[in-house]
Amino acid sequence: MTSTFSRERLGWISAFAGMTLALAASAQTLPYETKAMNLGVVNCASSLCHGSASSWKDSNILQNEYITWSRVDKHATRAYQVLFNERSKRIAQNLGLKEPAHQAKLCLDCHAYNPPPAQRGERFKVADGVSCEACHGPSEPWIRSHVAPDATHADNLAHGLYPTSDPVAQAKLCLSCHFGNQDRFVTHRMMGAGHPRISFELDTFSQTQPAHFVADADWQKRKGAWDPARVWAVGQALAAAELLDVMLDPKRSRDGLFPELVVFDCHACHHSMTDLRWSPRSGTSPGRIRLNDSNLLMLRQIVRRTLPGDEANEFAQRVNDLHRAVAGDGGDPLEAARVLRASLDGIVRQLARRAFTGDDLRAMLTGLVADGLNGRYRDYSGAEQATMAIGSLMGYLSRRGELKGARAAAEALDRLYATVKDDEKFRPDRFEAALDALGRTIP
Ligand code: HEC
Ligand code: HEC
Ligand code: HEC
Ligand code: HEC
Repeated sequence: MTSTFSRERLGWISAFAGMTLALAASAQTLPYETKAMNLGVVNCASSLCHGSASSWKDSNILQNEYITWSRVDKHATRAYQVLFNERSKRIAQNLGLKEPAHQAKLCLDCHAYNPPPAQRGERFKVADGVSCEACHGPSEPWIRSHVAPDATHADNLAHGLYPTSDPVAQAKLCLSCHFGNQDRFVTHRMMGAGHPRISFELDTFSQTQPAHFVADADWQKRKGAWDPARVWAVGQALAAAELLDVMLDPKRSRDGLFPELVVFDCHACHHSMTDLRWSPRSGTSPGRIRLNDSNLLMLRQIVRRTLPGDEANEFAQRVNDLHRAVAGDGGDPLEAARVLRASLDGIVRQLARRAFTGDDLRAMLTGLVADGLNGRYRDYSGAEQATMAIGSLMGYLSRRGELKGARAAAEALDRLYATVKDDEKFRPDRFEAALDALGRTIP
């Protein structure tokens, strides 16, 4: 169970401050939820459309999206192909599925694009994996109009193109498979059967996918400002919301006598008994099960920087209340989860409007380092999430030309990444030592 991302995700166009599409995206219909017709990847792939071998100079898009996707993006055939491998066979067998993994809706909903048969055009193939339409939406309603010479982005959206450039809609889309939602979800039971632990951070993953678009001046003119810090922040808030939704969803929150274990830190249970890790923090007692609070820990710093002081304190209080209640130290856990969950929609709306400044980035970065040195990331999931966050924030600062000693910082970041590479071998003390060294490279 190793994390597969690396630090190779710099080099993106830096962010401009400004406006974003003001979408009420929590209400955004995901591609698989719409009733429209899907025509299949083959319809996007012509060399005159998105299958050009190289990008076109006078076009406002790259036009080689299909080549990038089919050659290097794991969403293309690979996501589907893994359903034929030994591991998938074992998972399906261990779960007692009636059909093999590559025919099971349970698996296909995430490892491919799996709309109902009535919504599949003649050339649509599930074997294409997580295809263009899985993210950009069923294409029949917009395929013709989007190539008209005077088509605007707003027209395309009005015709049903999924708003992938809106940070909230994007986060909701990616999380629908990279965590799950009310319709599809990797449970602890599936992990026990052999499914890997899912690790995700929106901005890091958007870059390692790799991106098949360039958020240059032209992109921003058509689609609004691209602020990767905002994408990261919104991604954290929505991931935290999804986790709380699992706790609050009666269908997903229990598995026999136990609650659904995915909402907890995996290594709260899965580590050796001589490896004593508990330390006093966030109102939890020793020997009690701890929530996977990795996204909430990131949000703590985001909220501190972006919300007025009293709102930030209220947020911190609600998180503490939840931890205490989950640990049995007072209060009703479901009520605490409900109160915290209710506050997240407002936070998402504020973050989606925020233009993050260099000072914001620096404050969040030093805040994350300080939290880590105060022992807040002694759980693997928190350390892993903090590492991706620190890497992303350093990347944004560096692209703004605002990171002094970027070279030393990048080397320190590599060493930090090394400490979270393998969750089975994670040692909080080594992580904290690497974090301390990294902190010293940031003036
Ligand atoms: C909620 C979405 C979701 C569901 C449902 C799901 N998966 Fe996955 N699966 C993922 C994601 C996302 C990854 C990639 C994990 C990562 O790299 O972070 C993955 C990874 C895997 C891998 C490892 C892939 C590799 O490249 O090594 C296998 C094997 C796998 N899944 C099999 C299955 C099978 C079999 C089922 C059905 C029983 C299933 N999955 C159901 C989302 C899902
Ligand atoms: C896993 C989700 C995903 C898949 C699969 C996917 N895309 Fe994208 N695509 C995105 C995101 C996110 C963006 C960036 C936001 C935006 O520009 O709307 C994007 C942007 C684009 C753009 C806009 C570039 C610009 O400058 O405006 C095009 C064109 C595009 N994708 C075509 C495709 C094609 C063709 C395929 C299939 C071969 C595909 N995409 C598959 C998520 C995806
Ligand atoms: C329909 C489900 C689905 C959606 C939507 C989706 N993904 Fe994925 N993604 C997967 C699956 C399944 C895999 C695992 C492929 C494998 O390793 O076999 C994956 C793999 C990846 C990987 C490679 C991870 C690795 O371990 O190397 C990245 C990066 C990624 N996704 C980013 C994104 C981003 C960013 C978005 C949103 C724009 C997104 N995904 C949307 C299902 C999805
Ligand atoms: C509340 C404690 C608890 C938490 C939290 C927990 N697990 Fe488990 N896990 C168990 C128990 C109990 C079993 C079943 C006993 C066994 O097989 O060892 C198990 C079994 C497993 C197995 C199968 C082990 C085997 O020997 O076959 C895997 C894999 C696994 N868990 C992964 C995870 C992952 C990944 C997470 C975090 C998302 C997680 N667990 C969170 C308690 C937990």
